[in-house]
Parts: sequence; C-alpha cells; structure tokens
Amino acid sequence: MRPAMIRHRVAVGVAACALAAPLAIGIAPQASALPDPRETPTDPAAPGDTPAISSEETAEPVPTNMPWLNPSLPPEKRAELLVDAMTEGQLLHMVHGQSDLLGTRVSHADGPPSIGYIPPIPELRVPALILSDGPSGLRNKEKATQLPAPITQAASFDPEVARAYGQAIGEDAKDRGQDLIFSPGFNLARNPQAGRTFEYFGEDPLLAGTIAAAHVNGLQSTGIMATLKHFVANNQEQNRTLNSSNVDERTLHEIYEEPFRIAVRDSQPAVVMCAYNRVNHTPACGNPDTLKRDLREWMGFKGFVVTDYPAAWSPTDLKNGLNVELPWQFWTKPKRIREAIAKGEMTWDDIRDRVRETLIQMFRFGLFDHPWDDAQGDRVRPIRPIDPARGNAVAQASVEKGAVLLKNDGMLPLTAPKPGEHRRVLVVGDAAKNTLSGGGSSNGSALISDTIFDALKARYGADTEVVFSSQLNPARIAIQAKKADEVIVVAGVLSTELLDRLTLDVPVAQRNAISIAARNNDHVAVVMQTGGPVVMPWLDDVEAVLNVWYPGQAAGAATARLLFGDVNPSGRLPQTFPADAKEVPASTRNQFPGAHMGFEANYTEGVMMGYRWWGSEAKKPLFPFGHGLSYTTFDYGTPTVEGPGTRAGSVRVSFDVTNTGRREGATVPQVYVSKPASAAVPTPPRELAGFTKISLAPGETRRVSIDIPADRLAVWSETERDRVVTPGHYAFAVADNAEAPAATIGYDIR
Ligand code: BGC
Repeated sequence: MRPAMIRHRVAVGVAACALAAPLAIGIAPQASALPDPRETPTDPAAPGDTPAISSEETAEPVPTNMPWLNPSLPPEKRAELLVDAMTEGQLLHMVHGQSDLLGTRVSHADGPPSIGYIPPIPELRVPALILSDGPSGLRNKEKATQLPAPITQAASFDPEVARAYGQAIGEDAKDRGQDLIFSPGFNLARNPQAGRTFEYFGEDPLLAGTIAAAHVNGLQSTGIMATLKHFVANNQEQNRTLNSSNVDERTLHEIYEEPFRIAVRDSQPAVVMCAYNRVNHTPACGNPDTLKRDLREWMGFKGFVVTDYPAAWSPTDLKNGLNVELPWQFWTKPKRIREAIAKGEMTWDDIRDRVRETLIQMFRFGLFDHPWDDAQGDRVRPIRPIDPARGNAVAQASVEKGAVLLKNDGMLPLTAPKPGEHRRVLVVGDAAKNTLSGGGSSNGSALISDTIFDALKARYGADTEVVFSSQLNPARIAIQAKKADEVIVVAGVLSTELLDRLTLDVPVAQRNAISIAARNNDHVAVVMQTGGPVVMPWLDDVEAVLNVWYPGQAAGAATARLLFGDVNPSGRLPQTFPADAKEVPASTRNQFPGAHMGFEANYTEGVMMGYRWWGSEAKKPLFPFGHGLSYTTFDYGTPTVEGPGTRAGSVRVSFDVTNTGRREGATVPQVYVSKPASAAVPTPPRELAGFTKISLAPGETRRVSIDIPADRLAVWSETERDRVVTPGHYAFAVADNAEAPAATIGYDIR
C-alpha cells in the first residue's frame, strides 16, 4: 500500500494550530458515490470531472491529525472526518458567505475579486471557496469573455454548443482563481415579459434540462463548480423576493422542476441556488418540499444549496435543505442559529449534515488538494491572464449556431459587390455600434469589442459605401435609405434582471426607423438583438429578419458571417414569439402580477405553458417554438416507430432527412408526442419528446433515429408521487416546429 500523499509546494504547518508534525499515513483509495469531474466527457450530456491539479505541485505527507487531507479517500469520507473535527464555531463558519462587494478580498489583499466567498479556516486547512457570476461569462468585476446571451445555447438546439459555452466560462474562471460559478440559469419562460428570459433556456423542460446538463458538464470539466439556478418556479422579476409562485404538484414536477431533474441526473452539478420567491407561500430557500423531498430525495441531488443573494428568511432554512446563506449573514448569524437550536427548532446534526454536503463537493473538486500557503492562510491559488482568443472563438461559434433566421424573402444571404461594382448600403441603429447585452448579474465586461457595423463594413469591402444612421434621426434614414441598394436595421430590445418587460415591442424610435427604411427602400433586413420574444407588426414591410439574441463580444464577426452566408443559420426558437402581446400564456394579473406589483402568481394555466398553451388554445403565434429558417431547405420523410410497447421500454422514431436545397446546412428535426386521451389528466396537444441537429450537404439524405426513453412519455401521478407512463395510444410527429403540420405515427403502450 503506498502512503497517502498530499501535494504541497509551500511550507506545511499552520501557526494557529498546535498540531503535531505531519506524518505519512496510508489509507487505501475507496470508491465514491460521485463521479470524478476530472474525466473529460465525450458525450456533452455525460457527467464530467475536474482536470488534473497543476504540475508545479509536489507531494507532501498527509498530517495524521488532518486525515481529511488524504486525497485517496473518497470525498464523503473526507468530509465526514473533517466535520467530526470541527468545533461549533467552525461549523457555523461554513453556513454563510461573505462578499467583497464592499472592497475586501477573501482573507488577503491578493485574493481574486469575486461576487462572494466563504473565508478559509487555516487551522483545519479548509481553503476559501470563491464564488462569482455568471451565466454569460465570468463576472467578477474584471474583464472576461462575454459570451452571447445564454438563451443562444438553447436556440442552437445543440448540447455541444452548451458544453463548449460552459467550458469557456470555466476556463476563464479557473484562470482568475475562482472555485464556483453561478451558472447556468434556466427557469422556464412562463410569460414572455419575464425579465430574465435572455439568461434562460426557453419554455420547454426537455430542451432546457438537456442544454443545462451539457453546460454544467462543460463548466465542471474545467474543475470549477457549476450552479443550477434558481430553484424553483422563479418566473418573474417584479417583486421577486416577496412573490409566491402558487403552483400545483403536477405542474411543479412535470414542468418547472423537470429541467432541474434532467440536469441533476445528467450532470451531477455541485451546487443549486435556491430562488428569491416563495413556492406555495414557503420561501424557496427554506422549503423542505422542494429542497429536501424533491431536489435531494426525488432527483438525487448530492451537492449543496446556496441562497440567491438575500433569499434566506430564517435560521431554520438550514434544517430545511439550505446549506449556505450568501453573501452575508442575515439569518445565519451564530447567535440566531444557537437560539434556534436552543429552542429545539433544529439540531446540531442539521448543521453537521449541511456542512458535510458542502464539504463533499469541495473535496470532489479537489479544493483541498492544492499546496497550502501559510502566509496567506489559504491554499495556493494560481491566477493568470485570460487568453482572449480562446473564449472569443466559442463566443463567435455560439452566435453562429444559435442565431435564428426568422424570415427571409430572398434578400439573404447578402452578397459583396463584384470587382468594379459600386454599392451603397445603409446601416441603421445604435445597436450596430454598441452591442446590447442583458442587464444584471449576467452583464459582464467584455475582453474584445467587435461591432456589427465594423464587421459589415469590412465584409462588404472597399467598393461598398457603408453609411450609418442612428434610429433617432428619421430624416437621415429616409434620405439615405432612398439612395441605398439595401438597408440593414439593427434593432435592440433591452431586458434585465429585476424588471419584467413592460412591452414586447421594439422601442418606438426603432419601430419608426424600420418603417421609414421600408418606405424608402425595398430591400430591408432587420437584425434583432433581443433576449426574448418581440412582436413585429412591421414584419410584412421587411424582407428578412435575423435574430442574433444579445450577441456578446463576437457580435460583428458572427453576424456578418451569418448575413453573408459564410455560415448557414441553424438556430431555432426555444420560446414562442407571440403575434399579439395580449395573446400570451399566463398573462392575467392573477397569473402574472409582474408589472402590476401583486404578490401572488397563481399558475392556474397548469402545464399549458409556452407552446403547450398555444397548441391547447389553437391560437397562432408569430413564430412557433422550434421555428428557424436556413439558406437551404429540408424534407423529413415518413417516420417509423419501434419499441416494446411497454411502460418501461424506450421508443425509437426513425425517418429520412434530405437537404433539398443547394447549400450545406443544419436542421433540427423535432419529435413531438401526443399522449393518450386515456391519461388521467389533460395533456397538451404536442410535447417535445426528442430532437437532434444534423448537417447535410446539398442533395444528401440521412436516416435519423431519435430514441425516446419511456420516462419522456410520463405524466406526474399524484397517487404514486412520481412520473408514470399511462397505457394507451401515443402519436409521434416529426416536425420542423411545434406548430408545423407533420406526418404522425401511432404507438400503443400496454
Ligand atoms: C441573482 C443571481 C446572481 C446573484 C449574484 C442575484 O440577484 O438573482 O442570479 O447569481 O445575484 O450576483
């Protein structure tokens, strides 16, 4: 048996601790219930692991009096040993964070800036835990890669895009000395006005959960902990800390918790952030039904739960499933906890359980296996500059794969002038020169600036005169549009954390700019920068609309390549775009108090949200969920279905896909299921059961098979308190979007 070693470079031993000199002890490696984040996942949805620890480190013996430092023990055992060694004060130290928002940094001046941290406990060699945002790139008050709005990942319908996106965040975070990132956010878009739709993954639980799992696997493969947020039913911004989301059990499990269940199952995230809101009147951060019964017991979550910043309401939240209050102590002040224990409201064992859950992840991610720096009283934490090119490539590729071509009457792709041909192009809109991004904790500071205006100018070439006008100058737009061969209007709709959108329209100046351009020129294309649905009463006036979401720091290169067809658009809407802002799901005051400042959001629409609602109401949106055009066309053949016809068996739907156009391109075949009429509860007309994305050469046909695990066909059963497959007749439709007519194939389950 080899002696257990810990890697050390800096002197071992802690002044504050009168512990014996380190001795080598031998403990055989033991199996852990948790996957090792160090393996690079090949399947983007497969759980990954942390990378190897820096080679600059050298092995040191494990001190006998700190057996938790033995890296060959499983994380669970190490955490148990450490918790057993902790004093009450040390246990209480671990259940709340601190923040350097006021200028202090971890335990020492050289620590990296962050959005929060748990300070180290040098006498036990517990390192600091350093936490930052966020979902569209590292946000810790420094510059970092600014990726496009997170919704772009869902719009790619490609888990590989989300994996690379998550990995890019993790790599920047690692360079800047972070341990944990508050990403991904993926609350479902219940109402299109919700302020954070840009940060989330649309309105379908399967799509959102699949994309989140891939993102977590990418992020955690860098050795940084990922955070699923915000748990749960956190679907509006106004009154977000006081609102109660009143939601029935079926809807909670089948819709709002389902993306979390998928992500927990497929990526073993280290952290969940509980939400500001209440769920059925109990705060989400102190709710044993959602945190203990659902998250831990039903979904099998093994990590730790942190509050969304001040989302705790009582010291007993710690008993109900909360592990760490961030960023400061409000409810977890030692005095309050001790009082609650003295009153019998909770026990020291509750605290030990919570601390153990946190420590297991800290051990799993190797945070104790770095050299110790006595002078700083923390682990050695290498910090290096971010390589700007690395993340920028991911930022650009994400836009190229997630931008959605909403309309094209033939104006796109654009062409550059032939040699000697002189052209004049008008670009309208300040967003062409100042890329928009969503506001709040996803709003980072970009490393690179690459605007649409500059990139278009370069791509058109020297023979084209590219003229600019702000949307605020109608006279100039009219004059210049008349003189131009074509007009590109870059329109932008702002959205932010803390506020729900008051309207789904583009701002009035931009609306006017589009109309004026269209009155004076027949060739107008609109590039939309938005974080969510927009109504487009002007749609018939323009030839093309390309939605690039908030395109991040690679806005220019990606948008120019999409407009000119260097890349063929292949994104799809992860969220329905309504035709009329008044005809949207969950829109009454009773359902969505939102801007009306009410405190009760009643989810009376049940499972009929998003495209499920549009389908059940037989209303026509402007663009359905799953919609997206390409510069080529595709044809889907008649599907066949195979499966054992039992409630447990997986189903395979197969069909041919043909690229019927003249360009290479990617398409997203979607399989929707209609569940049997015999289901005990009303079911939506169509629900996404599977999807894939394939790229085909012109004229190429490929057979596609989509496997649908039985679980995808289930509905929530109140009696069995689980997802249950109902026997009966199912129909599968292979469709290009949630509304498209499609050949269906029946399938019976006994
Ligand atoms: C947001 C979280 C974010 C946290 C830290 C909160 O207000 O809701 O998403 O991670 O702030 O910035």
